[in-house]
Amino acid sequence: MYAFFNNEFLPAEKTFVHISDLALQRGYGVFDFFKIVEGRIPFMEDYLQRFYQSAEQMQLPVPLPEDPLKEIIFELIKRNDMENAGIKLLLTGGYSADGYTIESPNLVITQHVLPTVSQKVLEEGVKIITHEFRREMPLIKSINYTTGIWLQRSVKEQHAYDVLYHLNGEVTEFPRCNLFIVNNKGEVITPGENVLQGITRKNVLALNGDIAISTGKLTLTDVLDAREAFLTSTTKRIVPIVQVEEQIIGTGRPGQVTRELAKRLLEKENMY
Ligand SMILES: Cc1ncc(COP(=O)(O)O)c(C=O)c1O
Repeated sequence: MYAFFNNEFLPAEKTFVHISDLALQRGYGVFDFFKIVEGRIPFMEDYLQRFYQSAEQMQLPVPLPEDPLKEIIFELIKRNDMENAGIKLLLTGGYSADGYTIESPNLVITQHVLPTVSQKVLEEGVKIITHEFRREMPLIKSINYTTGIWLQRSVKEQHAYDVLYHLNGEVTEFPRCNLFIVNNKGEVITPGENVLQGITRKNVLALNGDIAISTGKLTLTDVLDAREAFLTSTTKRIVPIVQVEEQIIGTGRPGQVTRELAKRLLEKENMY
């Protein structure tokens, strides 16, 4: 397996960053992640735009403009001969002499086997737990997942699938996914602020039509009272939520709106 590191393709097992990198020393860096499906990259422009935006907001210059970056991504896919996979773009804080000042970021591009969502999860839905937290810079896809990783033990102990962040009663997102609910009027709503602008979230919002889908402020009570709920991400697409801690959501089974949107999202993805 090959990786791309700054300006060359290297065997992934021989690709290293130095210990002085701010990513390692201080958790400073950004990344993005997208799927290759049969050699195509659905919504590639959206992911690249988010990557450049995250980098800019984090004050990290990307060493390459968009077109050469795209060429490198396709070259990596060709070299690895893997037409179904994930691609991770990682931009670190760079090697820092004093361990605190941003210097030249390192760009690392790696290809990964895509995790799959089990049929059981899609058919039965999942339980989630909640945690009081908000990501420090919600619009930036930062490499810092400290709280999410730290919470993995609680998620496991409580036989949950994921953990929903909330602060002052307002829910935002999961460590790696966005949230949607279907309220008792049949309206689909996702939190509008203090969340990562997920590409899957954007694609679900664009399905707005005969089913009303919008952004808005959501409280924990809204989630508990919802008729349906689901989470979204690039790798998981749409996963139905049927339980929050000990409370059952709706009928306790994946709802009709969730299933319909999952079908439409897949159709949209396959059009690319
Ligand atoms: C904090 C956070 N929210 C939401 C998402 C989902 O975004 P996307 O649909 O672009 O995968 C991610 C993805 O990793 C994330 O890290």
